[in-house]
Amino acid sequence: MTDDPVTLGRRHGGPHHEELERLGLRPEEVIDFSVSTNPYGPAPAVVEAIRRAPVAAYPDPSATLARRRLAEHLGVRASQLALGNGAADLLWSLARALVSPHTRVLIVEPTFGEFRAAAEAGGATMAEWRASLESAFQIDTAAIADRVRAACAQVVYLCAPNVPTGAGLPAGALAALAAALPAVEIVLDQSFLLLSHDWQDLGLPLPENVICVRSLTKEHAIPGVRVGYVLAAPARIERLERHRPAWSSSAPAQAAAIASCAETAFVAESRARLLQDRLRLCADLRALGLQPLPSTTNFFLLPVRDAPALRARLLGNHRILVRDCTSFGLPSFIRLSARPAGDCQRLLTALRAELPRC
Ligand SMILES: Cc1ncc(COP(=O)(O)O)c(C=O)c1O
Repeated sequence: MTDDPVTLGRRHGGPHHEELERLGLRPEEVIDFSVSTNPYGPAPAVVEAIRRAPVAAYPDPSATLARRRLAEHLGVRASQLALGNGAADLLWSLARALVSPHTRVLIVEPTFGEFRAAAEAGGATMAEWRASLESAFQIDTAAIADRVRAACAQVVYLCAPNVPTGAGLPAGALAALAAALPAVEIVLDQSFLLLSHDWQDLGLPLPENVICVRSLTKEHAIPGVRVGYVLAAPARIERLERHRPAWSSSAPAQAAAIASCAETAFVAESRARLLQDRLRLCADLRALGLQPLPSTTNFFLLPVRDAPALRARLLGNHRILVRDCTSFGLPSFIRLSARPAGDCQRLLTALRAELPRC
């Protein structure tokens, strides 16, 4: 793994180019189960819209057309939306808007690390509630509310479907949590919503104190473009805008957001295939004597003996990349993403060879 100062302490899936160079591998030779973007994308019309985006002029700093089209698509008002340079960028912007030194922030762990990193950089006092293996990492909103009250937290970060566990959060449980904590800002990261069983929650009205962050990276398979959005009450959107620079979404990102709204069928088809791919892979892993954990989305946790060693052997010996979950505090788990059947067969062959050693 790299010691690159940019990513140190915030590991993510996907290839680390320096590591591949050391192993003499090219990125295109590697089958990547560590990153959970849609392997069936992107949709040609989205790629075409990105290609045609005007790059010789500044983009609209308010992303007016993209917000208007997204608003129509989601059944909300444009004033409830902010477009950004990916969900990660929006999480950092939200932390700038919500956190000052000593703001008390609670993170629902184990989870995606960017909001914690941003809150820590802003001088927050951190607390956490941690889901347990015994409950298959379920998100227990009553226990979270108790912990938030005990820690006097003012801001909560909650990811659902959660990364890396795949645990979901029913809309009713979210509503109850928000109602129980009316003075708390709940940052809800739904980056994987559209690739999950809960995709129909997309258009549900959100409680006033919930700030929803979504990525277009995952279902549209466009991580290189950097585009996501925040959905929240207009006053919270205004606050976010005051805490970030102008031109926070590029012309290609705005074009991708507009084009993505016409791709409901592509997303639905991809989701159906990926949820089926996940079921098939989990069944094959169980046939090997392994015990994949339940998930609501296109990735899941797999308990193993030594995740760092297994990751290294799969990459070095088989050109297969999996997510070692040590950085989530889970050194005996890898995270696997759903992929087409041929890729899964290669993974199963590699696991048969390597599991006896790690
Ligand atoms: C839960 C979660 N939120 C946000 C992101 C970042 O998404 P984006 O590519 O839109 O910045 C990721 C990326 O892995 C993620 O897993």
